[in-house]
Amino acid sequence: MDKQKLEIQYTVFKNREDVSDEDNVLIDRAKEVSLNAYSPYSEFKVGAAVLLDNGTFFTANNQENAAYPEGLCAERIALFYAMAQFPNQKIKSIAVYGHHSKVELAHFIAPCGGCRQVMLECEQRGDEKMRILLSGDDGEVLLIEGVENLLPFQFSKKDLIANGM
Ligand code: THU
Repeated sequence: MDKQKLEIQYTVFKNREDVSDEDNVLIDRAKEVSLNAYSPYSEFKVGAAVLLDNGTFFTANNQENAAYPEGLCAERIALFYAMAQFPNQKIKSIAVYGHHSKVELAHFIAPCGGCRQVMLECEQRGDEKMRILLSGDDGEVLLIEGVENLLPFQFSKKDLIANGM
């Protein structure tokens, strides 16, 4: 038996003043679009803003459905939409801003497993680490550089290729 430890890296900014102007603009866009989320069932309002290498922005929010599994997270809508418009651009950064209409959340919302998997694929379509900014109403910002820090054990295209598929 060999117990292992895994380290992930991220940067914590205690407040928005310590964040770069470019990142603050992205966070503001994510916050702004979160207000238009369609989330009558969970009341979670999540906004995602994607910045491509060519400077283009895309924003989206979570869209729920009475048939619950048919809804989709803000991150996936923003990433898929960005990739649909600019299939060859790299995604430089994504900001995710989450809050709740009725309850004050203690901190940011972390992307769900499905969104982490989609982030990984988007990152691998380019050759740059994706920057992920997480924040919420408490003002703290987490910067994660590279999806490996959100999703350490990965299943990706590389596994399919390695196994001849
Ligand atoms: N949600 C997101 O949009 N992104 C996340 O990172 C976590 C969760 C949404 C999905 C659903 O509409 C609601 O939040 C509650 O799960």
